[in-house]
Amino acid sequence: MDQDGTETSEYHRPVLVEEVVELVAPVIPGVVVDATFGGGGHTRRLLNEFGEDVTVVAIDRDPEAQANVGSLPVSVIQGNFGDLKTLLDGSEQNRPSAILFDFGVSSRQLDDGARGFSFRNDGPLDMRMGPDASSDAGEIVNGWPEKDLAGIIAKFGEEPMARRIARAIVASRPIKTTAQLSTVIAEATPAARRRAGHPARRTFQAIRIAVNDELTSVADGIDDAIDMVAPGGRVIAISYHSLEDRIVKQRFAEGATGCICPPELPVCGCGVTAELRVLTRKPVRSSATEIEANPRSRSAILRAAEKVAA
Ligand SMILES: C[S@@+](CC[C@H](N)C(=O)[O-])C[C@H]1O[C@@H](n2cnc3c(N)ncnc32)[C@H](O)[C@@H]1O
Repeated sequence: MDQDGTETSEYHRPVLVEEVVELVAPVIPGVVVDATFGGGGHTRRLLNEFGEDVTVVAIDRDPEAQANVGSLPVSVIQGNFGDLKTLLDGSEQNRPSAILFDFGVSSRQLDDGARGFSFRNDGPLDMRMGPDASSDAGEIVNGWPEKDLAGIIAKFGEEPMARRIARAIVASRPIKTTAQLSTVIAEATPAARRRAGHPARRTFQAIRIAVNDELTSVADGIDDAIDMVAPGGRVIAISYHSLEDRIVKQRFAEGATGCICPPELPVCGCGVTAELRVLTRKPVRSSATEIEANPRSRSAILRAAEKVAA
């Protein structure tokens, strides 16, 4: 299934995988951190391509990701990539050559109704990616004041009907299941808007982002990755909505900014040097062929940057 719950026929088909292989190739042999192991699709492809020349260090917030390792020569470190520095051995000789992020939730997580991510498969209001999440969806849906609820639906879901939906949720409390929540949202959405995709898609995304504090993890994870990757190494990030992508884009642009002295100064006085070189002047998107084969790739946006050798 798609990030937003759209059905797809296959599990774990990694998104933009050939583009990732191409970006990683120049830093092989080396250690690649797959910070979002999920179903292991990217890791599997990297191991197939580079064999013994690559060592993959896998991370996932979800303890269930370990079950997807199969015969791969990796063990998944369970943790939040927002704590990348703590999760990895940061010693000089172990600095990774590349760090990959493929944000969001996996098809397996979405398809498993019991995890509560999907507005199509019924389940409890959970949506926690891992045990470190501080609340679950039920606490937000049934406990938050209407104003706060409307705020996250507007901000994290970019949902124009946020206030109306929040009002309907509060009026329908207690809401126990994802199916109930989905119905409440659909009924609060004007018929004209219902034609633009599933009416619950944006609200479910918003609640999931809030439950897992996803944008904080993205910002911290990218910061840590830039610090940790070896000089000449690469940070690669695949986002699925503009909120994630904006964080990556801005951080890469900031890292690629050199001297900030006014142009009329004859000599640099600020001492600022660029720590990154952006490798994707334009974000990389999936081809029409990939989107046809894997609808989930439709919203993927890949950016990559190289750490400038000191
Ligand atoms: C889109 S899936 C990755 C799919 C994977 N690249 C593949 O090819 O199978 C995203 C994965 O990242 C994990 N994840 C999301 N946020 C995370 C975080 N902050 N820290 C660690 N893992 C996270 C999710 O649990 C999920 O398994």
